[in-house]
Amino acid sequence: VTVHRKDYQPYPYDIPEVALAFDLAPDATEVRCTMQVQRKPGASADAALVLDGEDLELVSVGVNGAALPADSYRLSEHSLALYGLPSSATVEIVSRCKPSANSTLMGLYVSGGNFFTQCEAEGFRRITWFADRPDVMSRYRVTLRAQPEYPVLLSNGNLLATRQLPDGRNEVEWEDPFPKPCYLFALVAGKLTHRETTVKTASGRDVLLQVYSDPGSESKTEWALDSLVRALRWDESRFGLELDLDRFMIVAVHDFNMGAMENKGLNIFNAAYVLADADTATDANYEGIESVIGHEYFHNWTGNRVTCRDWFQLSLKEGLTVFRDQEFSADMMADGMDAAAAASARAVKRIDDVVALRAAQFPEDAGPMAHPIRPESYQEIGNFYTATVYEKGAEVIRMQHTLLGEEGFRAGMDEYFRRHDGQAVTCDDFVAAMESVYVRQHPDRDLSVFRRWYRQAGTPRVNVKLDHDPAARRCTVTLTQECPPVGVERKAGAGYVKAPFHIPFAVGLLDRDGRALPLRHAGAVQDTALLELTQQSQQWVFEDIAERPVPSLLRDFSAPVIVDYGWTNEELALLSAHDSNPFARWEAGQEFATRQILALAEARQAGKTLHAEAAFIETWRALLTDPALDAAYRARALALPSEKTLAERMQQVDPPALAVARDFLRAELGRQLAAEFRQAFDDNQTPGEYSPAPVPAGKRALKNLALSHLMAACELDAPRLAEQQYEKAGNMTDSMAALSALVNFGQGEYPQKALAAFYDKWRDNALVVDKWFALQAAARSTTVQTARELMQHPAFTLRNPNRARSLIFQFCLNNARGMHHPDGTGYAFWAEQVLALDALNPEIAARLARALDNWSRFVPALRTPMQAALQQVRAHAGLSRNVQEIVSKALEFA
Ligand code: ARG
Ligand code: ZN
Repeated sequence: VTVHRKDYQPYPYDIPEVALAFDLAPDATEVRCTMQVQRKPGASADAALVLDGEDLELVSVGVNGAALPADSYRLSEHSLALYGLPSSATVEIVSRCKPSANSTLMGLYVSGGNFFTQCEAEGFRRITWFADRPDVMSRYRVTLRAQPEYPVLLSNGNLLATRQLPDGRNEVEWEDPFPKPCYLFALVAGKLTHRETTVKTASGRDVLLQVYSDPGSESKTEWALDSLVRALRWDESRFGLELDLDRFMIVAVHDFNMGAMENKGLNIFNAAYVLADADTATDANYEGIESVIGHEYFHNWTGNRVTCRDWFQLSLKEGLTVFRDQEFSADMMADGMDAAAAASARAVKRIDDVVALRAAQFPEDAGPMAHPIRPESYQEIGNFYTATVYEKGAEVIRMQHTLLGEEGFRAGMDEYFRRHDGQAVTCDDFVAAMESVYVRQHPDRDLSVFRRWYRQAGTPRVNVKLDHDPAARRCTVTLTQECPPVGVERKAGAGYVKAPFHIPFAVGLLDRDGRALPLRHAGAVQDTALLELTQQSQQWVFEDIAERPVPSLLRDFSAPVIVDYGWTNEELALLSAHDSNPFARWEAGQEFATRQILALAEARQAGKTLHAEAAFIETWRALLTDPALDAAYRARALALPSEKTLAERMQQVDPPALAVARDFLRAELGRQLAAEFRQAFDDNQTPGEYSPAPVPAGKRALKNLALSHLMAACELDAPRLAEQQYEKAGNMTDSMAALSALVNFGQGEYPQKALAAFYDKWRDNALVVDKWFALQAAARSTTVQTARELMQHPAFTLRNPNRARSLIFQFCLNNARGMHHPDGTGYAFWAEQVLALDALNPEIAARLARALDNWSRFVPALRTPMQAALQQVRAHAGLSRNVQEIVSKALEFA
């Protein structure tokens, strides 16, 4: 069944109050749901009350205290419909579920002997029959009863009472004063330890902040709690948004489908985004924890106080909240730095976000699952927690921030909350609030063209033409945009026309010595001009430009588009050395590297010898040795583009050829720049106590990049450096980097011995064991056979999503040679694992299924076995709706 955005109908009833009572037991939990139900004024008197339910056993239904006669309700597989209700009634439903058997990790489930819930998007229906949709908002009162072996009993809001029952069980009562949709409900019960602090909010209220985790892990929650305090402060200072509850709890769980969940006052987190200490977590882990804690905390306003009318509006809360977490991280990274260092730190964050967007969202937007950030239809909403809704959604918010400016954007946010606090609204409502400010700033403009970002899919391509008239000292820039239909849009027929997007396009011009030329634009003279492209093609004229300049385009990645401009390699080298915009400077080097690797891949396919251009090597040497660049920035500037990004640039994707080409260039750089890399390795050691702060983390990133080049090049003493680092490392970042370099490029027995010792040392730490599996699954020498052997390891299980991701997903998504072996065994392995996972956890299975999305763009030798594997999965009887949607779209819309 396909659900369409245009079919939205309001729910005929209000459910202002809900009381939930749980008798918790792993094998049979009884839930009594008592709701106040009121027919809406305009609704028909015979509108049934239709409630969703899944995998539930019905015990009883009552209305106003009396059992309901059997002819007044109808129970079907997924719903319970009540007929002939008075306009206002108390409905009481008692049901039973079995948390211990719930491997989907949606609804109520057991993990590590404790109870947890995950309700977004449609998990609440696995807990009780209810109107499981975000526009039905209720105040919740929750009673939890459990045996004393579950001493901690948590739910949303404020704790009202705790008591011991005559039968020895504990009972607690919680009340959440804010009306919320059921997807924000949560409960946790079990043996947990916690760390807490009290802070005063901006208006002077004391609030209790707590982080709960497994007993024994209390030493690993300091960073998480500190991050939470920083997030709370940041939302106050940057957006004027204060915590509205007396207490805010975060709970870590090891079995979790996603990163984390913003349940009101009771965030539930994948343990990977909570637990950290220097010995077990990497710099990237620390950064990820701060960012996800910020993200979920920021949802309290953008998501919870103002929520979504329906799931098509998911980007309303996710795009906006990702934008907010990106800005939070950028501000934290730049905190306490001088202006130049802060600009570089912000650029590093922007680069990392754009790298992620290009690796995940661009391919999605060019494939069978392409959808606008506000999808028009879906079969399974769980499949639409996508890079498009999240990351492209954040770019669409960022463009509004760019168009309105920081102050204007803040005014738009204030207006959004003034209009919609306490409501379930749409993306249109958000844009309308922003537009109310925009039209005040620019009485002659509006956001009507901009709104197309919400309804058209695909990554626009912007062609840039630069004309220079030396006699008139005039430079003309012509921008032309193009975005042909993608995925399902292509099936809409010949009549389907996409209209131009509103694209804020930031440009600078450099003279031939690399100096920034002042640009007169929009009433100011600046190094950067923000061109607003709203038609298919437009021109801008810049005066007083003596010679043909070099354009610096899409500065700071001002729009999620692909730039089409024919720089020469000399121009790229100039930009890479001189562009005053650190993002565009990075971009120039990446474009140069991309051209190198693509040329090498072609040479490889043609059976020619591989050769790297001297000008490229010199560009890299200049970046590596530029004393004006900090280590974190250099680590990004010198990182070769990922295979995922490179694949988007190939007519026919050939991952093994790309892998060989990229490896060749890495090794060649290591050989030709051995002395410089060695110097960087020595200069960027971080002795002393570990700190995850951006400066030391940046040094480690550069040092470890240097190590990987030296290892790849088989530079003589590189293995010794790697072994020494591995043995002496005082933090997990350096241990993992050294181990990875050894496993990927080392020789002899050392790497295997080190792997075995690593496992023995960390076997009791699930998050570190995940790293151990992931490193091997993505290693260059790992084959399908090796992956299968790793699955036989006693620590492997498909039931734990983190473990499945660390081995299966790493292999299928990040091991080009193993997965895309021409014998097709990688694809057979993929099909097998998709089906095995689907029987346990459809949401995770569907994510793995997406690994073959873009099969039709691969070289024929790979395309054919990929298609066969997809067909094999599609033909499987009893496929979940989740996987069904992915594989059928892959085969149909590719
Ligand atoms: N809203 C959560 C977030 O912050 C994601 C929850 C998605 N849950 C799911 N089962 N798909 O981003
Ligand atoms: Zn979110």
